[in-house]
Amino acid sequence: MKYLQFIGLASVVFLIHAFKLEDTFQKTAPAKPIEERVDSVMKLMTIEDKIGQMTLFTSDWAVTGPTLREGYRDDIKAGKVGAIFNAHTAAYNRELQRIAVEETRLGIPLLFGYDVIHGYKTIFPVPLGESASWDLEAMEKSARIAAIEAAAAGLHWTFAPMVDIARDPRWGRICEGAGEDTYLGARIAEARVKGFQGDDLSKDNTLIACAKHYAAYGAAQAGRDYHSVDISERVLRETYLPPFMAAQKAGVRTFMTSFNELFGVPASGSRFLLTDVLRDEWGFDGFVVTDYTSINEMVYHGIVANDKDAAELSLNAGVDMDMQGATYYNYLLQLVREGRISVTRVNESVRRILRIKFELGLFDDPYRYSDTEREKARVFAPEHLEAARDIARKSIVLLRNEKNTLPLSKQIRTLAVVGPLAANQRELIGSWSGAGDYKQSVSLLDGIKTKLGAGVKVLHTEGCAITGQDKTGFKNALALAKTAEAIVVAVGESADMSGEAASRSDITLPGVQEELVKALVATGKPVVVVLMNGRPLAIPWLAENAPALLETWFLGTQAGHAIADVLFGDYNPSGKLTVTFPRNVGQVPIFYNAKNTGRPMDPQNKYTSKYLDVPNTPQFPFGFGLSYSKFEYANLKTDRSVFNTDSSPLKVTCTVRNLGPYDGEEVVQLYVKDRVGSVTRPVRELKGFQKIFLKNGESKTLTFTLTADDLKFYNRDMIWTAEPGMFDLYVGADSNAPLTTSVELR
Ligand code: NOJ
Repeated sequence: MKYLQFIGLASVVFLIHAFKLEDTFQKTAPAKPIEERVDSVMKLMTIEDKIGQMTLFTSDWAVTGPTLREGYRDDIKAGKVGAIFNAHTAAYNRELQRIAVEETRLGIPLLFGYDVIHGYKTIFPVPLGESASWDLEAMEKSARIAAIEAAAAGLHWTFAPMVDIARDPRWGRICEGAGEDTYLGARIAEARVKGFQGDDLSKDNTLIACAKHYAAYGAAQAGRDYHSVDISERVLRETYLPPFMAAQKAGVRTFMTSFNELFGVPASGSRFLLTDVLRDEWGFDGFVVTDYTSINEMVYHGIVANDKDAAELSLNAGVDMDMQGATYYNYLLQLVREGRISVTRVNESVRRILRIKFELGLFDDPYRYSDTEREKARVFAPEHLEAARDIARKSIVLLRNEKNTLPLSKQIRTLAVVGPLAANQRELIGSWSGAGDYKQSVSLLDGIKTKLGAGVKVLHTEGCAITGQDKTGFKNALALAKTAEAIVVAVGESADMSGEAASRSDITLPGVQEELVKALVATGKPVVVVLMNGRPLAIPWLAENAPALLETWFLGTQAGHAIADVLFGDYNPSGKLTVTFPRNVGQVPIFYNAKNTGRPMDPQNKYTSKYLDVPNTPQFPFGFGLSYSKFEYANLKTDRSVFNTDSSPLKVTCTVRNLGPYDGEEVVQLYVKDRVGSVTRPVRELKGFQKIFLKNGESKTLTFTLTADDLKFYNRDMIWTAEPGMFDLYVGADSNAPLTTSVELR
């Protein structure tokens, strides 16, 4: 095969080189075999070949934007494209790989990317939902399984994890990340990178990951997708960058630029982001890909006059690969010839890309990831479905449970299961479900029927659609409800109401769904409202009137089983919100770690910070989630009252008791407030958490550690440091935890 020939030729060239530079070679060869192999390939490449490696095109399978090119197979044959996305399955990708390896001059293997965001075929909860599990191990496992399936289906590269901090529920892409908190977001970023990439990229079950969208995409003004971002460097560095930095430290091999501008420069043209911070400060040595046509979009941003200037700006800023925009494809050669781009800069990018192709083992076996037998065996493997059910139930958040409406008894004789999402399979896999097959997903209705068996009468009707004003179905829904002992009503959004290009200015329940719920609650029967949605919703009536309210997001392939486990007490809910739920959209932005005001709210004083028409507090705070058990928090202590930067870590202990009546898990959260800083500090910041299991009646003393490093922030001179002074600590069940103590940092 061609690639073997060229490895042979490359070795000859390499040996001559090695002979001439014997000393250098002797020193570097054992330590950096991949670098030398990359060199050997680079030596054979023309500038055109190199530009080809820097070009990524979509296949004709699925697109998320304008398709600029047709005939990508011809481009592959001509060596004009080094990576393809949206092509998958072992058989299809094997054929494309064959063209690259057998029919191009150099036979350099292609890299196949895809949005494997929350599963490949076995679909896990949408990432925001999954983050509500606060279970890092489970999240790493779901990414691992996604990689195992995808890597058997011809893929090498996932455009995940999305590590954008998002605090605006209007923004549809809030669904794709880990919520509003930087600390938690960073931990989840690490877990997901580790899960996708495993411990050896050359194995046939790992994917390279991609930290996206770099950077601050989640701060889109007004929550409108693709909109401008205008934040300070302090906010960027303290809030938005840490999850990216954590991904880099966890070894993520690629970064994707974001669509937005930052400090007046679109991310794909930002030397500050792509070189100064990413390469020089953080030492990233993987490659940077743009988001879809974001180089071209710099013309609309008004920072360059045309695509050619855009390509120049982008490459010089530090972008290595152009996704779908064809700007490198069309203009890089001219730019090099005109001396506007240096060959050295091109070489740098090509080296980064080839290095990763070597790491994946593609030069050793370009078909390693395309094995139809393995694909069949791995996709939907029983252990994958089991893991999907496990993480799905861990992601469910119990928001309200009046008079212990839940769990429902399995001895029930008649149950009404209504609502537009009750029997739905399509929406359950959420947005960005890529290759997911919704027909394999277990609906809530089926999950309940399977759980209860034939002995229980389970009645179903939709009642209404997700959208629209038609209430004619209410009558039937109420008739069923009246004959049932309890009612489960599933309402929410459709999957495409969140994700990319899916911002909403109104985040209430769409259509007449709330009216349906009101009518059902008016029957006086026990009603369990099951929410399915990709963002925080504004649901004040439900939050105050539904007998029981379960947030189930879009839970994926095993959704119905997972929800049924919670409804009937086979799993005690343990999820906690990773994003604040506002009372109404007018409170946005609203997040727990905000700054204080000089005029804190005082109901007796008009001239304090508040609204006339809504409280300042959210509907449900960050970190909130109930259990069927009650947990008691006590004895919050530190091992010293004073600690300093050199001393051993401060130990913070607290006792948590499960007061029953069930065994269950609890996410114990540690928050810190820096009382006085050289710049103002948030009212609280999450600094640690532990998810623990306690049997009914059991108690445990937990220990958290804190070092001065954990208390660092950018001071008035933008220096990352911890300042001496008093810190308040809080430990509890959510971001309003009342149990507190304090400690001094000297
Ligand atoms: C655009 C999206 O912003 C990005 O997240 C995704 O990975 C690419 N399209 C490729 O589908």
